[in-house]
Amino acid sequence: MAAAAAVSRPSRLLLGSQAHRPLFTNTSGTRVGASSCRPLGPPGRVPSIAPDDQSLGTAPLATRFTAQFPTALREQHSGSESPFPNGTSPVLRIRHYPCHLEREAPRLHAAHCMLGSVVLLWGGSRGSHGTFRRYVAGGVCKSTTKLNGKVVMITGANTGIGKETARDLAQRGARVIIACRDMAKGEAAACEIRAETGNQQVIVKKLDLADTKSIREFAENFLAEEKELHILINNAGVMLCPYSKTADGFEMHLGVNHLGHFLLTFLLLECLKQSAPARIVNVSSLAHHGGRIRFHDLQGEKCYNWGLAYCHSKLANVLFTRELARRLQGTGVTANSLHPGSVYSELVRHSILMSLLWKTFSFFLKTPREGAQTSVYCAVAEELESVTGQYFSDCRPAYVSPQGRNDELAKKLWNVSCELLGIQWD
Ligand SMILES: NC(=O)c1ccc[n+]([C@@H]2O[C@H](COP(=O)([O-])OP(=O)(O)OC[C@H]3O[C@@H](n4cnc5c(N)ncnc54)[C@H](OP(=O)(O)O)[C@@H]3O)[C@@H](O)[C@H]2O)c1
Repeated sequence: MAAAAAVSRPSRLLLGSQAHRPLFTNTSGTRVGASSCRPLGPPGRVPSIAPDDQSLGTAPLATRFTAQFPTALREQHSGSESPFPNGTSPVLRIRHYPCHLEREAPRLHAAHCMLGSVVLLWGGSRGSHGTFRRYVAGGVCKSTTKLNGKVVMITGANTGIGKETARDLAQRGARVIIACRDMAKGEAAACEIRAETGNQQVIVKKLDLADTKSIREFAENFLAEEKELHILINNAGVMLCPYSKTADGFEMHLGVNHLGHFLLTFLLLECLKQSAPARIVNVSSLAHHGGRIRFHDLQGEKCYNWGLAYCHSKLANVLFTRELARRLQGTGVTANSLHPGSVYSELVRHSILMSLLWKTFSFFLKTPREGAQTSVYCAVAEELESVTGQYFSDCRPAYVSPQGRNDELAKKLWNVSCELLGIQWD
């Protein structure tokens, strides 16, 4: 069983290596946190992997994949305490086969994954179901902070992660504003939360992030009715949309996931500052690692891929958070972003294939309640009172892609976003 469990380990390590690396820096780039895991490398020096590098000729596959990994980092990860023996990174280890099996590597890897899955299922049927579910569930927010008298706004809280975040924060006594585009769905969610938590201060307001007119009306209405805003959770999102545009002509992923929340935050910022201490939480994704900000074709008119468009918009969330945190220093308002994990929600609704896969493998995904833990953690954890500009996953600091740590890129995206939205935000 132990050997079999080891076989199933690589797939988790692959995700874990990206999601949990504790590169915990303040906005000036200095590391401020520590944990039992070590970062894989300094900012901007993430090892490049070139499996087809000609200079390595016919070296065994294992060598070819490890040779590019900087020596200092290999040393960091060798030694008895290293979780990844032989000086390889977890990403590299899954391809670590003897050279005579080089051609078979993809098939061997697939076999490993299948064997791992079978073992997990077998283990589940033998009574370790609970252990496995806890493993999949990931980090849990253990804070017992109460939010009586606090006002919280969550976008896209009529379903999925947003709804579970709203439920948790309502349970803590907050006045929760559910900002959603479908009032009927929003009311149904609010009714359920009010009934379950006994908190009658759960209110639904109409907000369509794909229309700047709706965002402005929503903000105007909110500011007229509410005096304070202590927690803003920019959660709503779309994924895998066929090419389409928002009412203002922005590509849908960029328009809803980034520009919509950018404008909303701009319109509510004075209120947040006046309510300080306040927090802004941007729900990004591990997918930001695959993102690029393609300034020459931001609206995807020349080249569009629905998967990449999502990644680009999630990178924009990370960069927005970084620049926002820098600008908010000293105001008492913090801004952090996060990856909720792989969650069984309606996010993949635009793809039949992904919906089928999500359903088939739902056992291996977090439930929306589990997926809401990091959002709740960023919103309430006492230890994050003055932490800003960071990225979290499973309720702890996580590794941000080099693009996501690029301050120049963050500033440029900020300026371009202001131009697109016709706002001046200094
Ligand atoms: N699920 C995952 O595995 C995963 C992984 C990483 C990151 N995330 C992020 O987590 C966040 C929440 O996703 P989820 O998994 O909970 O997905 P979900 O169940 O599909 O929820 C998305 C929410 O966003 C709302 N929304 C979409 N377009 C909107 C618009 N134009 N205006 C206002 N609201 C809009 C949806 O409203 P309707 O119900 O009316 O469509 C829904 O309430 C997203 O930002 C997503 O990128 C999710």
